[in-house]
Amino acid sequence: MISGENIREDFPILFQKVNDERLVYLDNAATTQKPTQVIESINIYYSTINANVHRGVHTLAERATEAYEGAREKVRKFINANETAEILFTRGTTTSLNWVARSYGEGNLKAGDEIVISYMEHHSNIVPWQQVAKKTGATLKYIGVGKDGELDMDDAAKQITKNTKIVSIAQVSNVLGGIAPVKKLAEMAHAVGAVMVVDGAQSTPHMPIDVQALDCDFFAFSGHKMCGPTGIGVLYGKRALLEKMEPVEFGGEMIDFVNLYDSTWTELPWKFEAGTPNIAGAIVLGTAIDYLNELGMENIHQYERSLVEYVLPKLEAVPGITVYGPQNPENHTGVIAFNLDGIHPHDVATALDMEGVAVRAGHHCAQPLHAYLKVPATARASFYIYNTKADCDRLVEAIYATKEFFKNGTV
Ligand code: ALA
Repeated sequence: MISGENIREDFPILFQKVNDERLVYLDNAATTQKPTQVIESINIYYSTINANVHRGVHTLAERATEAYEGAREKVRKFINANETAEILFTRGTTTSLNWVARSYGEGNLKAGDEIVISYMEHHSNIVPWQQVAKKTGATLKYIGVGKDGELDMDDAAKQITKNTKIVSIAQVSNVLGGIAPVKKLAEMAHAVGAVMVVDGAQSTPHMPIDVQALDCDFFAFSGHKMCGPTGIGVLYGKRALLEKMEPVEFGGEMIDFVNLYDSTWTELPWKFEAGTPNIAGAIVLGTAIDYLNELGMENIHQYERSLVEYVLPKLEAVPGITVYGPQNPENHTGVIAFNLDGIHPHDVATALDMEGVAVRAGHHCAQPLHAYLKVPATARASFYIYNTKADCDRLVEAIYATKEFFKNGTV
C-alpha cells in the first residue's frame, strides 16, 4: 500500500499555510497539484529541448519531436490503446469531447437518431451533444440516477434503442463519485450499432484504464487532473473510426498536400493536430504518467479507497449532513459531495477555507444533475494520492467547526 504521508513530500505546494492553518487540499476533482518531478520537467523541457516538432531537421527539432512522440507512446501504454495513431493530443477533456461531437457526431447523425447521455454528466459531456442535436436533428436522451445513487442501468436499457447512434457517459461522476459500468454500456451501445464515448476525466487519474478491455470507441481525459500541466489532454479513438472522421481544425501540420482550392490530410494521429501543438504539455504529461506508474495505478486506486472507507462514515455521522452519491461505499470514489442543513454550500466552502481546507462549492459544471437532485449546489471534497487520514480528520473537524460557526444557519 502506498502512503499519502510519503507522497506529500513530492508536492511542494502542500507545505504552506492558508489562513494560518496547514493547507488541506481537497479540490482534486477540479485540478490536482504537481510533484517536483513534473515541475522540474517543465524546466528541463524549456532549458534543453524546446523546438517545434515534425518540422525541422536540426538537433533540437529532432529532440523535441522524439520527446513529443515519446509522450504519445507513454499515453498509449497508460490506457492500453492498440497503437499511437489512436492517441490525439488535445487541450483537455472538453476539447476531446467537442472533437468527437463535432467530427463524429456531425458527420454521422441525422434526424431521428439518438444520442444517449446521463443526468450525471459534466457540462462538457452535455453541451457539445446539445449543439450536435440542434444541427443534425438528432434527439438527446438522458439516463437517470437510481435510488442507490448510481447510474440507473434499468433506465439505460430503456434509453438505448435501435435509434441510438452515440452513448456518452462519464466513467466517474465529478459530483456523485460513483463508477459507471462503462464496459457494460459499451456492450449495450454496440448491440444496437452505436458508438461508446467515455468521459474519463475523473477516472483516469485514479484507477487503471484499459480502453481495449472497456471496448469503448472514444475515451477522453485531461492532464491537469493527474499531476500533469493544464492545457493538455487526450482523445483516444479506434483507428477505424478516426480514419473516416474529418479533422475539426485545419492549418499547418495536419495536411498532406495543399492546392489552391483543396487540400488532403496527413495520416493519423497528426491529421487532427493542426498548428503547433502543446509540445511542453504533452512531454510533461509523459512525466506525470511516469510518476503515477511508479506508484502504480492499482495501488493509487486502493489507497484512495482506504481514504474513502475512513472518511465516509465520519462524514455520514455528522448531524444534519446529506452525503450524495452511491449508497454502496465500495463504489464511491474519492469525490464526495455533501450539504449541511441550513448552510449554503458556498458558506460551507468559505468556512472550511478559514480552517485551511480547500473544497469546491457550486454546481460543479453539472447543473442538470443538481436540478435532478433538487438542490441548487453542493460542497465537494475530492481526494488524491497525497491526502492522508489526517487530512480526512481535518475535513471532519472543520465541518463541525462550520456547523458551530453557522449554528443559526445561512439559508
Ligand atoms: N471538471 C472540474 C470539476 O468538476 C473542473 O471541478
